[in-house]
Amino acid sequence: MAMKAAQRAMWAMGDYDRFARATVWSLGPVLVQACGIAPGQRVLDVAAGTGNVAIRAAMAGASVVASDLVAEHFDAGRRSAALSGTTLEWIEGDAEALPFDDAAFDVVTSCFGAMFAGDHRAVAAQLLRVCRPGGTIGMINFTPGGVGGEFFALLAPYAPAPPGPDVPVAWGHEEHVRDLFGNAVSDLTMTRQIYVERASSPEEYCALFMESFGPLIAIRESLAPARQAELDRAFLQGVVRWNQGRSTGPVEIPYEYLLVIAHTAARLPRIG
Ligand SMILES: C[S@@+](CC[C@H](N)C(=O)[O-])C[C@H]1O[C@@H](n2cnc3c(N)ncnc32)[C@H](O)[C@@H]1O
Repeated sequence: MAMKAAQRAMWAMGDYDRFARATVWSLGPVLVQACGIAPGQRVLDVAAGTGNVAIRAAMAGASVVASDLVAEHFDAGRRSAALSGTTLEWIEGDAEALPFDDAAFDVVTSCFGAMFAGDHRAVAAQLLRVCRPGGTIGMINFTPGGVGGEFFALLAPYAPAPPGPDVPVAWGHEEHVRDLFGNAVSDLTMTRQIYVERASSPEEYCALFMESFGPLIAIRESLAPARQAELDRAFLQGVVRWNQGRSTGPVEIPYEYLLVIAHTAARLPRIG
């Protein structure tokens, strides 16, 4: 319970909408297209943040529920939805215990979202439970070997204990995903892809994270000044390394992710 409250408080810090628009905003349409989201479908976006996927799914004509552990994200999401001329429902919910009926959705999505809940097996069971038989589950997850994996590994020595036994980027490992979904899915397609994050300089890129990304803000606030300076140096060095060694001028960092598209197995009719 205390762990969940800490997770909620951490993600509510900073300005997630500003952060998402400067980093991952191009991926919402990628997941909507990969899932084949179409008018009339019922879509749930899990760990939706401020609506990166959910708003794009609504723009594609679906009837959408955006759900997240942190209701503080929803005001920004509602503003963006209004600007895009869409309406969707925003419902607070933990990916480990989703507040929705069994088989309530045709498509269930999560972009760099459900991967951050601690209990991967519980999350997989929930995604499968709320998706109708023959429906689609689509995820975008950082891979362990990509820059996202390196970023979270860089933070780990400074961070409190993670919320569960598996690190979030395990969701970017094909074998782990295959094991989690098991034979509850009839087919599972996983492809490694790249998106690029940009900024005008390494310092500006670091400042964006320090000002707007809740998990980094929470970690920095917990550190004594010398340790905080050490983390800041390590982060800047990481950014330069990921920027092909360029320490000045524009930043272009390629992030690898695993695009997961699963179709849930149709349930067989009961005999007798
Ligand atoms: C990196 S953000 C991604 C948000 C959004 N999907 C996007 O593409 O911008 C991770 C999101 O996961 C949410 N989150 C973290 N733990 C969660 C949990 N246990 N259940 C539901 N959401 C959670 C955070 O509040 C945050 O909005």
